[in-house]
Amino acid sequence: MTLPDTITLTRPDDWHLHLRDGPALAAVVGASAVQFERAIVMPNLRSPVTTTDRAEAYRERILSARPDGSAFSPLMTLYLTDRTAADEIRAACASGFIHGVKLYPAGATTNSDAGVTDLRQAWPALEAMQAERLPLLVHGEVTDPEVDVFDREAVFIERVLAPLMNDFPELRVVFEHITTADAADFVITGPERLAATVTAHHLLLNRNALLVGGVWPHHYCLPVLKRERHRQALLAAIGTGCNRLFLGTDSAPHPRGAKESACGCAGIFTAYTALELYAEAFAEAGMLDRLEAFASHHGPDWYGLPRNVGTLTLERQPTPVPEALPFGNDTLVPFRAGGEVAWTVRNATGRMA
Ligand code: NCD
Ligand code: ZN
Repeated sequence: MTLPDTITLTRPDDWHLHLRDGPALAAVVGASAVQFERAIVMPNLRSPVTTTDRAEAYRERILSARPDGSAFSPLMTLYLTDRTAADEIRAACASGFIHGVKLYPAGATTNSDAGVTDLRQAWPALEAMQAERLPLLVHGEVTDPEVDVFDREAVFIERVLAPLMNDFPELRVVFEHITTADAADFVITGPERLAATVTAHHLLLNRNALLVGGVWPHHYCLPVLKRERHRQALLAAIGTGCNRLFLGTDSAPHPRGAKESACGCAGIFTAYTALELYAEAFAEAGMLDRLEAFASHHGPDWYGLPRNVGTLTLERQPTPVPEALPFGNDTLVPFRAGGEVAWTVRNATGRMA
């Protein structure tokens, strides 16, 4: 298939993004703001965003950290805990700026210690979310030490997600950053109220990228990269045109030292070239014609928000990726550091503050 030299899309949104706080936020927000109109902002700050008041204050900090003239709009989320009250959920809905509540099984990933230890504790909050139609955004991995890290997503479906969806037959759920054939099947054969985000890195890499030729800490994320057959299943699921699969980068910056360590932490910073990476994955899979709906239509349609009116153009010209980027007093190693990505977002200058 011959590839076009340029493609113009409705301006996209990122439905799963970690922006951090303070100097780290100031360093990374520009990268997302040049590409995306809106982003669902994850609440797993060191002191998690557990209340509407905290979400409002965090939202203000994000708005102030945007580059001059940026219209980037953060869509806030709350962090579900064992103690989240139904009233807190109703307050979140009334705020108008909170668009989901994130479930982190306690201990599943970065800053998830305050997450849910037992879903029964969160029952009143989940009932309120179902009644208010506020989506539950799920980090879908069990934390049971007996379960192999590569199986944690598949086991989560069977042990947690399927039963939860039966217990709450109208709860709207986003299965975040799906990585397996099991999750892709579960979503595409599932009901309208179930959607999923897919990252660029899980579309581009399999677990060899983590472990062949050495340990590659900048390819370590959660859920961990999987076998090639799972990567192919994610691409195939998107290739069906399922309108409940949408773009969510899960771009998750960490200082270089926290990644290049005896116990490196999970998270890949893809925001610097997010859309270019998706374009590369879609072009390689021969489905560039699916990119616009995935990046710009399915997300807002599912969340009940208007599609963006602006456009964005990608050129089939390589973008060089720096070896490292400033990150407050630290440095940040972006995905593909020192290499290049096959596409370039036109006018994306000033992508890092
Ligand atoms: C995320 C982070 O660093 O906040 N890390 C990651 O590997 N994706 C947390 C998460 O989304 O699991
Ligand atoms: Zn995430």
